[in-house]
Amino acid sequence: MQNRASLIVVLGTGGTIAGTAPSAADDSAYTAAQLSIAELLAAVPELASVPIESEQVAQVDSKDMSHAIWQALARRVAHHTARAEVSGVVITHGTDTLEETAYFLQRVLAPAKPVVLTGAMRPATSARADGPGNLRDAVRVALASGRVGRAGVVAVLAGQVHGARQVRKAHPTRLDAFDSGEAGPLGVVQGDGVSWRSDPADHAPAEAPCSAALSFDVARWPRVEIVVSHAGAGGAMVQALVGDGVQGLVVAATGNGTVHQALEAALRAAQAQGVAVRRSVRSGDGRVSGPGAAGLPGAGDLSPVKARIDLMLALMPSMPA
Ligand code: SIN
Repeated sequence: MQNRASLIVVLGTGGTIAGTAPSAADDSAYTAAQLSIAELLAAVPELASVPIESEQVAQVDSKDMSHAIWQALARRVAHHTARAEVSGVVITHGTDTLEETAYFLQRVLAPAKPVVLTGAMRPATSARADGPGNLRDAVRVALASGRVGRAGVVAVLAGQVHGARQVRKAHPTRLDAFDSGEAGPLGVVQGDGVSWRSDPADHAPAEAPCSAALSFDVARWPRVEIVVSHAGAGGAMVQALVGDGVQGLVVAATGNGTVHQALEAALRAAQAQGVAVRRSVRSGDGRVSGPGAAGLPGAGDLSPVKARIDLMLALMPSMPA
């Protein structure tokens, strides 16, 4: 449905986009999460004419992203997207776990308005900072999406729009570090608008929101960990995790979902003890389609980190006590 509201809410969570270095020549030795969201917005003069409200939800290097911040962020996004005057929400975020937060918010909220995550590969103090341009593009995408009634969580970086399910950080340093794998981006930022390449519905199944994560005590969120199948893999890590009370395990499997026999035996033993197990593939693209380790369910096209979120939400009681 077309949205005539024009207010954009920008939520800050930290990251390199808010990072500072001692010198403008320094693009790598910097401290993430230093500048406030108000300071980031002040560095983008093109946004001066756009009605914007901002709020600092967190201030972290996103390698340290926590479930508690995810819950607080999801609550703020839910609050703002429910306001009639709000057209969309933009979130500034570190790039390291941006893809996880994007997928988490999509699964928990399935928002009926655009929610756009953005970040930067260079700190705000860099003479060649990419953050201001990405923030400008993110606001433009939120406005353009609202105008044509496109909703849901996307990521906007280096001029491309990526869906929450597909987006991934594919390079540690390049300015265009993000892609959507073989699905390709949803669109490309062009001037004030977006040249859309496909519809979010073509990229992701419509899934009901797992809204329990908005209220369920974070300390009791199901514990789900990731193990990797590799040459010489064994079962010791799985056994240790089961002994430590893990409730779900995602294995980043080889090939089309195959698992080293020693690891597979440990995963089957864990499953027999009530631990939920999912197989995703470690190769980056494609989906688990072969029988692989039959009886250990596949995670479809989800990457290991997104399969972890999916399983954690699936294990969360839907009616929190
Ligand atoms: C972070 O993820 O917070 C640091 C790295 C980045 O934003 O590029």
